Amino acid sequence: MSENILVCTAWPYANGDQHLGHVAGNFLPADIFARYHRLKGNRVLMVSGSDAHGTPITVKADEEGVSPREIFERYHRRFLETFIGLGISYDLFTHTNTENHYRVSQDIFTAALNNGYIYKETQQQFYSAALKRFLPDRYIEGTCPKCGYESARGDQCDNCKTLLEPTELINPHAKMDNSPLELRETEHFFLDLAKLSDQILAYLEDGKEFWRPNVINFSKNYVKEGLRGRPITRDIDWGIPIPLEGYETKRLYVWFEAVIGYLSASIEWSVNHGTPDAWKDWWYNPAAKTYYFMGKDNIPFHAIIWPGELLATGRKLYATENDGLMNLPYDVVSNEYLTMTGAKISTSRNYAIWAPDILERFDPDPVRYYLNAIAPETRDSDFMFDDFIRRNNDELVATWGNLVNRMLGFAFKRFDATVPEPGELGDLDREILATVAEGFDTVGNLLAAAKFKAAQQAAMKLAQAANIYLDRKAPWKTIKTDRDATATTVFVILRVIDSLKTIFAPFLPFTSQKVHEYLGYDGQLFGEIGTQEFSETNRSHTALVYHPEKAAGVWQPSELPAGQKLRKPAPLFKKFDPKETEAVLMELLEN
Ligand code: MF3
Ligand code: ZN
Repeated sequence: MSENILVCTAWPYANGDQHLGHVAGNFLPADIFARYHRLKGNRVLMVSGSDAHGTPITVKADEEGVSPREIFERYHRRFLETFIGLGISYDLFTHTNTENHYRVSQDIFTAALNNGYIYKETQQQFYSAALKRFLPDRYIEGTCPKCGYESARGDQCDNCKTLLEPTELINPHAKMDNSPLELRETEHFFLDLAKLSDQILAYLEDGKEFWRPNVINFSKNYVKEGLRGRPITRDIDWGIPIPLEGYETKRLYVWFEAVIGYLSASIEWSVNHGTPDAWKDWWYNPAAKTYYFMGKDNIPFHAIIWPGELLATGRKLYATENDGLMNLPYDVVSNEYLTMTGAKISTSRNYAIWAPDILERFDPDPVRYYLNAIAPETRDSDFMFDDFIRRNNDELVATWGNLVNRMLGFAFKRFDATVPEPGELGDLDREILATVAEGFDTVGNLLAAAKFKAAQQAAMKLAQAANIYLDRKAPWKTIKTDRDATATTVFVILRVIDSLKTIFAPFLPFTSQKVHEYLGYDGQLFGEIGTQEFSETNRSHTALVYHPEKAAGVWQPSELPAGQKLRKPAPLFKKFDPKETEAVLMELLEN
């Protein structure tokens, strides 16, 4: 019954830290999803990595006067720290500058070329006489022909998401110095999206009812408006070489190869586990489900271009006789944007809260909780300081944390730190146990449907129900008159807490682990996240890896036995002082 679930997250450019918008729109929902499926007993493979190539990296390197390698390695290391701090449990978070990724990317290029889906064409490209070189798309800015946005980049308009060619821009100029540009001829390879168009549309029209409307509507319209061939090589020297002679001054366009990372990382993970073909359980098994998480600007690349690339290979890459066709994305889960106290996040103006900074001031679970509570699933949403404080204080501290503290403390003191033997259960007892047991289905179904915000709300509602049960039973009163009845209540509430610990675990992995220990269990709900060195023939790199071996969590109602010894509990969450916390957040936003 166990399902194979591939969880992919967009590969972040390693040219700067992650901000809370990235966390809320990409890594966190994917992690919640992966953790849920692991608890369910499904075979999860969660992969991504740093996008090491492309002009975002070279622009940053130019600014600092260092090599592109120095830039991406620096931020790659910082990403790993951020993910460990936030508990983002990638099975493998690697990067695109590995020999493995080069090989897989070049093989896909070759397969698509051999299948007639890549053609050569001479292109007009902007050339800077001053710099004596062709300018890559990201070095060019101008007005978007579609929406009129004035700072559209040569590759994409950030305002309306349209993918662009620099020549389509109105009033194009060099981004760095506004200098004039001239068009010169250069030869490039193109992915024949026009030829793939029918296949891509058929794919998008086949059973995508469960896709978020923003993703499926946007993608279908995009294809219906007509796809054109898209260049997949560039005149730059940073990136993956073209696997053909005579093109030594060109590289694969970052977009063509970065999406291939999902496949190459799956292969790297398999090789590292000593099971080199294991990736096929996700890529060739037709029952496997592959999910892709990203911000909305990445929709075209995951819903159109990546399926297009796979279709262009004939979906038979590295296949043996028994393999069918390679899986196209099962779901593309895109999020809208997060704003900060009402304004758009801007990395260039440094209007953002950076993930490493917030982790220095706050525990990870309250950050995860709030970001998921306001997840921009179907529309942009706003990070508000007072709302962050209120949800921490009212929901995490007063509702869930207080329930755990009060009752574990009570059992610890009044019942000799032992789960008491219950008497016969009454109506209220059976009712709360049934409500929480149903919660596994309710919350689980929402999680499986990528409705993370609603899932978390449903979990918190169960904690509220548990508090109502307690108020009715008032064990702190009955203990004075009826110890046996109180023992039953305590037994029931400890089971409820034990179940809620599991239900909250995808959202709040750190504190759920604590509850697990306070309840007297040994071992871990989840495996550990750590780093590992990988050596290839001529290169080596550090990656994030997840060790599932010791994970003991299961998605099912508590079977906590009477007689189990409890451990001394401590508060799960800290109450935020509104003034002080607002000041801290303001400082983080402004610095
Ligand atoms: N590096 C790109 C960005 O940060 C995203 C690439 S996602 C990919 O926007 F996986 F498709 F490569
Ligand atoms: Zn636009």
